[in-house]
Amino acid sequence: MAILKILTDDEPQLRKISRPVESITPRIITLLDDMKDTLHKANGVGLAAPQVGVLRRVVIIETESGKLYEMINPVIIEKSKEVQHELEGCLSIPGRWGITERPTTVKVKAMDRNGKYYVLEGTDLLARAICHETDHLDGVLYTDKALRMLTKEEIEELGE
Ligand code: CO
Repeated sequence: MAILKILTDDEPQLRKISRPVESITPRIITLLDDMKDTLHKANGVGLAAPQVGVLRRVVIIETESGKLYEMINPVIIEKSKEVQHELEGCLSIPGRWGITERPTTVKVKAMDRNGKYYVLEGTDLLARAICHETDHLDGVLYTDKALRMLTKEEIEELGE
């Protein structure tokens, strides 16, 4: 178990396309465990492997419910037409927030740490997190697609 360094958005690695995981090795299990520790330490909702400098298609998400989702090679297979405009931030872009447009509900297919594929449907925050984290695997940051970024004054009001 280890706390990994989270890269910030000036690092070129965040713009690279991550490679799929071909088999679950002890290194992938360790990566998942370390990402969990790192996410907890940073008090975040989600983390993608490229954010810790590992260009592999691995994502973890933990929403308020306390349930931790581990997603290896995640692919969004369905998006609702209905969209949400909500606040979004990123551990790699500290101190900034923006409003993004995301589907209200998405379905994602991914592999768990036992190598089993599963399909997860996420709504609201979970849908946003799935979109945000899978974007990281393609080198896309939410700031690329934000409808607008919050001003300094608005961020102060958030108390962040
Ligand atoms: Co992020």
